[in-house]
Amino acid sequence: MSNIFDKLEEKESIFKDKSPLDHRFLPEHLPHRNEQITSIAKYWIEALNNNTPSPITIYGKTGTGKTAAAKFAKEQLLEASANKNVSIKVEYIRCTDFTTEYQVITHLCQKLGRDVPDRGWTKAEVIKAFRDIFKKNVFGRNLILIVILDEVDILLEKDGDGILYTLTRTDNVAILSISNFLDFKQYIKPRVASSLRDKEIVFPPYNAEQLADILQERSKLSFVEGAVDEGVIRLCSAMAAKEEGDARYALDLLQTAGEIADEKDSKIIHSSYVKEAKDRIEYNKVNEVIMTLPAQQQRVLEAILKLTKENEEITSGKLFETYEEVSKGDAVGYRRLFDFINELEMLGIISTNTISRGRGKGRTNIIKLQCDLDVLETALYPF
Ligand SMILES: Nc1ncnc2c1ncn2[C@@H]1O[C@H](COP(=O)(O)OP(=O)(O)O)[C@@H](O)[C@H]1O
Ligand SMILES: [Mg+2]
Repeated sequence: MSNIFDKLEEKESIFKDKSPLDHRFLPEHLPHRNEQITSIAKYWIEALNNNTPSPITIYGKTGTGKTAAAKFAKEQLLEASANKNVSIKVEYIRCTDFTTEYQVITHLCQKLGRDVPDRGWTKAEVIKAFRDIFKKNVFGRNLILIVILDEVDILLEKDGDGILYTLTRTDNVAILSISNFLDFKQYIKPRVASSLRDKEIVFPPYNAEQLADILQERSKLSFVEGAVDEGVIRLCSAMAAKEEGDARYALDLLQTAGEIADEKDSKIIHSSYVKEAKDRIEYNKVNEVIMTLPAQQQRVLEAILKLTKENEEITSGKLFETYEEVSKGDAVGYRRLFDFINELEMLGIISTNTISRGRGKGRTNIIKLQCDLDVLETALYPF
């Protein structure tokens, strides 16, 4: 009997290798980021002269190449230092994985060969162990450590600015902080800001042409010849340029369009697949947001769904009534409902609009669903 995998393996695909479309893939060239990478290198070159580089901060919206550029600069520095008489280490930390100062310092100690347990020590003990690493070693050579703190705003918001203080106040340690938000400095107190004195590098959004260059290189690596034409690249780039110049979104569009082509047994990506891909990505995003909402908020959405289907104008009063009905005695109060409404609006699932009913009649809040009705329905009632 034939094996079920044989048939699937035989299936033709327009992908020759999907990995270059993955977010974690580090390409050999980063078009349109030469200026930013050179800026980083101009600070980091100090390390090759055995000096500690200045702290650097990178800002820019999602998908502007911050993570890729930092990792690229890291590889370049390590390559340049290989045949020099210096000892340089660059550690990359994603602050979504290590969310406290304690975790970061412990991780760094472990990476540098110090046997520090994941828990049990006090913060002061861990910091001391970390600093001891930078006392001159027996060969009389200084280790220079560069720490890349990616998505640093998450750590700062959760655990305060102690990590920046500790790192900038340790000899031979330099930091590169990366943030998606310009206002992350609100989390840094003056005491730390004064010792930080960082250099800032801005990553502007990509325009459509720049995105096209990025996609062109990646599509050559990922697709078989002839599967992707210029028009498709231009379409993905134009759509992603509208979404704030996000290269990640552009790559997602191209990959999803490719998957749709495979599903349809097509040997090329048609532009209609790109539009389909856009809907699919949006669908998955909204779906995920809704599925992971707390049950109370899902019930608010159930009420909104019900009213929308009945073509009712949704005032907050009406919503509260229906929500209480849907919740069957397990409802939160009117005030709390308002918090929920705000949160759902922030997530982009609904919109609210205050209108005036005319003189003496006061003002009313009108709530509207912002996502597709079907998307909401399948997310709330998956079976
Ligand atoms: N200039 C570029 N050249 C090639 N690929 C890029 C470039 N900028 C971003 N990318 C790719 O786009 C995706 C998102 O980039 P990333 O560095 O993760 O953005 P950010 O960290 O700013 O959110 C990654 O797959 C990355 O390789
Ligand atoms: Mg990033």
